[in-house]
Amino acid sequence: MQVQYRTDLTPYNTFGLTARAAAFTALKQEEDIYDIVRLPEFDRQTVLWLGGGSNIVLTADYPGLVVHMENKGIRELSRENGVVRIEAQAGEVWHDFVLHTLELGLSGLENLSLIPGMVGASPVQNIGAYGVEVKDVIHSVRCFDLEKGEFVELSNADCRFAYRESLFKQEGKGRYVITAVVFALHEQFRANLKYGDLTAAVAAICADREPTAKDVSQAVCAIRMSKLPDPKVLGNVGSFFKNPVVAAADAERLRQEYPDMPVYPQADGSVKLAAGWLIDQCRLKGFQIGGAAVHEKQALVLVNKDRASPKDVRQLADYICRAVADRFQVELHSEPNWLPSV
Ligand code: EPU
Repeated sequence: MQVQYRTDLTPYNTFGLTARAAAFTALKQEEDIYDIVRLPEFDRQTVLWLGGGSNIVLTADYPGLVVHMENKGIRELSRENGVVRIEAQAGEVWHDFVLHTLELGLSGLENLSLIPGMVGASPVQNIGAYGVEVKDVIHSVRCFDLEKGEFVELSNADCRFAYRESLFKQEGKGRYVITAVVFALHEQFRANLKYGDLTAAVAAICADREPTAKDVSQAVCAIRMSKLPDPKVLGNVGSFFKNPVVAAADAERLRQEYPDMPVYPQADGSVKLAAGWLIDQCRLKGFQIGGAAVHEKQALVLVNKDRASPKDVRQLADYICRAVADRFQVELHSEPNWLPSV
């Protein structure tokens, strides 16, 4: 097990913030974990298991050990009644895995095309887009349980998935290291085109013929590329804020004042609002503090315009939260993890 010290993390976070890890190593295969937990630098409380770095904001140098998840491999586990269980190791690149399943003729991940990051991070915040959340297709998650010192399989229910939430962000934080994810995909294409402009985007690709899972993936990629900046070109972490969920009465009060405001009623009676819309209404598209800015095309995304410092990002995020709270009395919460935690 090779350990590096004072490692530059700039290439390991898609926002492109500059910070160093006190110690750094890579997990290349599942079994490496036994060596990692025995390293003198290892501390269960402070270790950071890092995937694609597409959902973190580095606020300072990382004082602990960073473990980059690099374990690869995809295998089919079973095929029964049209359902195919397929396991992907945590270090597989998410979008490449999605494309791989589409090449196999499977359906289930097409709406989640082009999301940055690695497979192992997908259950943590229950990634979601265009009407699908990854919880809808996860069968189970293979983890190393640091408390018990052994590998465990957590079922979908064990993971307590909710909107951008899971066990891994709550009680399980610091306990489970996700090493692989098992997905339950379908041999038959099951269209999920309910979300906004997806139906039209798919129709534009297919004209008169019946759409396939690959068509949906292509449409999702086209929509994402038109709205979301490519992290390789302009540093970002996707949505910077969660869409806030408010009480029905608060949503109603706002709707009376802003009849065009998008609202997404939830099963429990609460209402999800569009953070991007709220920020946009505050006329903040393009607004910049230091090197950090609100993306010109999508107000929910903050971008690294010009060597942004962690302080620029923090000030910009605070400014946005205050502006939205002053105007709408709605509290925004950031979606990526701030590290070291603040
Ligand atoms: N809107 C604006 N101005 C903006 C941005 C959005 O008016 O600058 C409006 C849109 O017109 C639309 C509504 O707000 O009526 C929602 O916008 P959009 O459909 O673009 O989706 P979103 O709520 O901004 C969520 C996810 C994205 C996911 C898309 C598509 C969250 C926090 N974000 O964004 O996820 O790709 O839906 O399903 O739930 C991510 O998590 O990193 C991410 C990109």
